[in-house]
Amino acid sequence: MPQKNEYSMKIAHISDLHLNTFYSNSYFNEIKIILKYILSQKADHIAITGDLTDNAAEKDFEILRNLFNGFGLMNSERLSVVIGNHDIFGGVQTAEDILSFPGKCMDTDYSAKVKRFTDYFRETFSKCVFKNDESYFPFAKILDDVLLTGLNSIIPYSKLTNPFASNGEISLDQFNSLNSLLDDFSEFCKTKLVLVHHHFEKFKPDSSRSNSLFQNIEKQTMKLRKKKRLYELFDKHKIDLVLHGHYHNSAEYMRKGIRFLNAGATIKGRNLNEININFVNIEENKIKIDIHKLENNTIKIKPAFLSDLLAQNEIKWPQPKF
Ligand SMILES: [Fe+2]
Repeated sequence: MPQKNEYSMKIAHISDLHLNTFYSNSYFNEIKIILKYILSQKADHIAITGDLTDNAAEKDFEILRNLFNGFGLMNSERLSVVIGNHDIFGGVQTAEDILSFPGKCMDTDYSAKVKRFTDYFRETFSKCVFKNDESYFPFAKILDDVLLTGLNSIIPYSKLTNPFASNGEISLDQFNSLNSLLDDFSEFCKTKLVLVHHHFEKFKPDSSRSNSLFQNIEKQTMKLRKKKRLYELFDKHKIDLVLHGHYHNSAEYMRKGIRFLNAGATIKGRNLNEININFVNIEENKIKIDIHKLENNTIKIKPAFLSDLLAQNEIKWPQPKF
């Protein structure tokens, strides 16, 4: 067990590790550095919000499983994972893949790939509660007085509506199950968190990137659909924070009165030498978020945007608008 830190719970949030040992820059060393650093910071728990692998390769899941085991993390109290699109469909690795990728996605057995993911990390689901006998998503787990819930936001491939296999949606079935889990457990927990792969951020045109056509395609192919009902559900159950990845940025932000934290730039940020790790520090029902930036052997710690304002009690929370 980690030594006690100054908060009642410290959760390290990382995402989009994209382990890919078939290609030379596999991120294996970066992932080791990240796990070592998180343990040095005495985190009680690690939340990983999808795309643990880049190409959904069996070997990469095995490597991650062994790595987590080696660090003593392969159990429900220490680690929570949710699935990302790359963990099911993989990604485009070579120029030829651009043409063959849709066929590969079409041939992918979606359910088998979700099951394979949860099998590899099965110990992390061992103390969870589920509503559906057939699926580990959504799950709920209670750590002290913190409720962690996890969703699968990945949808099957579709030539028309999901042509890059990167759009997402929370099915009605999962939505209802999450509602029911929150009904059952919310009142016993002071802090409620949701883990999901897809982002809720609004895309802003990036003036430092010249290709606006590419940015438009990116916007259309990385969407989470049917967000409105999720905002309403998060509001109804007073969800304190939604943790996610997918869009390669690390930041805290508000949407419709709900607080979100993205860890998408853990490894794949704009600067390739940079690692970003989010730390969610929970005391009573207050959450303070720090983003630790590791670059060229230096570590910079900065409070995330809202946490800074909250600490000064200067923020007025926007009222939800649906
Ligand atoms: Fe993703």
